[in-house]
Amino acid sequence: MKRLILTMTALMMAVYAVSAVAIVPQPQSVIEHGRAFVVRPSTVVACEAEELAPLVGYVCEYLDLYGAVKCTPRSNYIALALDKSLAEEEYSLAVSSDAVIIAAGGYGGAFNGVQTLLQLLPSKVYTKQMRLPAVVRGCDVKDKPKYAYRGFMLDVARTFMTKENVLRYIDYISYHKINKLHWHLTDNQGWRIEIKSHPDLAKVAGFRGGDSPLRAALGKWEEKYGGYYTQEDIREVVEYAAVRNVEIIPEIDLPGHSEALLRIYPEMLCNFANKDLAVNGNYDARNAICATKEGNYKILEEILAEICTLFPSHHLHIGGDEVRLTQWLQCPDCSAWLKRHGYTDGYKLEDMFINRIQAILAKYGKSPSVWNEAAFGGGLSKEALVYGWKSADVCKQVMQKGYRTIFMPQEFFYLDMRQSRHEEGRLNRRGAFDLRKTYSFDFAEQGFTVENTNLVEGFEAPFWSEIFLHNGGDKSIDYIEYMTFPRLCAVAEQGWGKNGGGEWEEFHHRLYTRHYDRMCDMGLNFRITPPEVKYEEGMLSVEKIDNSTIYYRDDSNGKVCKYKSAISTSKPAKYLFWAEYRGAKSPEVAHASRYETLKPKVKLTSSMPENPDYPFSNVGLYDVNKMRTSRTCRKGDWILFEFEEPVECREIEFWAGAYGVYARMIPKGHLELSEDGVNFERVAELDNSCVRVINPRPIKAARIVADATYIGGYEIRFSSPIIYPKW
Ligand code: ACM
Ligand code: ZN
Repeated sequence: MKRLILTMTALMMAVYAVSAVAIVPQPQSVIEHGRAFVVRPSTVVACEAEELAPLVGYVCEYLDLYGAVKCTPRSNYIALALDKSLAEEEYSLAVSSDAVIIAAGGYGGAFNGVQTLLQLLPSKVYTKQMRLPAVVRGCDVKDKPKYAYRGFMLDVARTFMTKENVLRYIDYISYHKINKLHWHLTDNQGWRIEIKSHPDLAKVAGFRGGDSPLRAALGKWEEKYGGYYTQEDIREVVEYAAVRNVEIIPEIDLPGHSEALLRIYPEMLCNFANKDLAVNGNYDARNAICATKEGNYKILEEILAEICTLFPSHHLHIGGDEVRLTQWLQCPDCSAWLKRHGYTDGYKLEDMFINRIQAILAKYGKSPSVWNEAAFGGGLSKEALVYGWKSADVCKQVMQKGYRTIFMPQEFFYLDMRQSRHEEGRLNRRGAFDLRKTYSFDFAEQGFTVENTNLVEGFEAPFWSEIFLHNGGDKSIDYIEYMTFPRLCAVAEQGWGKNGGGEWEEFHHRLYTRHYDRMCDMGLNFRITPPEVKYEEGMLSVEKIDNSTIYYRDDSNGKVCKYKSAISTSKPAKYLFWAEYRGAKSPEVAHASRYETLKPKVKLTSSMPENPDYPFSNVGLYDVNKMRTSRTCRKGDWILFEFEEPVECREIEFWAGAYGVYARMIPKGHLELSEDGVNFERVAELDNSCVRVINPRPIKAARIVADATYIGGYEIRFSSPIIYPKW
């Protein structure tokens, strides 16, 4: 049987390998004819259409050519032309031994054609140092996207990203024909865009910690950090993106997620005393703009007027997500408004707020884009474009109400989410998902009707950035790349129409046979799909699923080897495997037995009061995030785990904060261990709420001590310790 499966796999590989042209996203039609074109230093780019002039420079830069001409020569040229019978983003590309001719309906189509041309060349083209002569594979392509909107969202509010890195991301997405960059510029954690009429928004609320009125991420008040884009920077990014057929859709997240704005203008808050100050270490963490203060709309119009002039996009994203309606319900003015109109539902107030902002935008010729919650109240105009994020089911509800939708449910498209259970990244109750899940999403399979899907404008995937801070902030661009690629390739395929047929094996084959090399030469630190680990009859083996090289490490001695054949062992948990291709790596994977844990009898006490809904007695459940305090931590606070019997283990891991989320935590603290339950020894520091000890002495008790007061923190969440048995 096994041999039959292997043979079938080999056959499948052979079938896919027949196509030498492997493009991501796959075009609608590719006819290979073998008449290749050779790019030489003497090749010219011919273009008569003024509108396409910026693309001529782009092609010359990537192909390292000097010659651009207006009139088409007889041979040895790449032509860029307009064909108004085609749709704006539609193109045809014809390769012959004389020329490559790209004809397109508009600038977008010509850019798409150029991206296909780059993918028909050696992958070195992305380094802009490809050696000439270079061969363009012989084929004719006819192509257009299925969806007009193919987007990526970058959250620069939580973690500021330099302009250079934003430009770099515009390159990455445009290589994949992703044509929208949703730029999440403001949130509770920062205001990243200069507003000339309200300069403190960026100058003050563009920074967190230190003497900023804005709390730092993960409780690091000592350090002041952040940044913002000047209006000149914004114009540069918009222009750079336009050359790459990327429209920038700015987001000013209102009326919730507005802590940064409200730290500068507390008078925009609702009119009630915040009772939660004690929980939050005396920090006013309210983040909803009062919906009924008339003066608020004046300030917002001044801000939005500047945003509208900076961005050519017809759409301006005004947020609308996760408004803490309880803040409005506690406000005498907001609750009086609801009463006056006969409502009890806070979403009706959100409708009113969004409609007011929509009227402001209309003055500047713009339309609102909103997160799906803004469609809950029933009063949102059909002109608004709704970004469906909460779940596929919520998207369905939004479509059933008749809203045009950008499809991005978190369980398939949130790229800050972990890609498998045991690697880095945000983990919430919706779990982890990988490239295959993003690629495999299918409307029909998920019960969407044709009427629903007719309202889909396209797909988007966001990268929310609070979590990657723990990994070095802007320096950790590698981490964002690892989280977003190749999952963004799958988003691109979804948006283009999955012309490869929708089979995972075909898509994966296209990636590893061609696109891995391209991504390497693009300079992307992408994730490779890991091999699968098997353990049968004392033999530990991995199945090779692509053309990468597999390595393994024996964790009992640290030795690294190249994997050649099955390993005979009675202790499969000791081994970690991973795949490498050029500079790219898969996550490390192991047999399931590696993740088996001990669950000894244990008791939890703390200097902090417990939240009765999540009592400390839950510690014995050995589950994550099951215990909570009822306030944030102060310096010297402790939590104590006492085991009935001393615990012997190879590794123990504690989370003094929500597991895998880096929130609701003791941000600064240390771990003390005791062999007798009386005398404690300081052994490790908390690293973003987590601490691990390898090969500890037998543990009778463990104590986590807070070394700083978390001003602006919430309640603290704990998990039971995660205890791995000895090998
Ligand atoms: C969101 O994730 N709050 C849009
Ligand atoms: Zn109010």
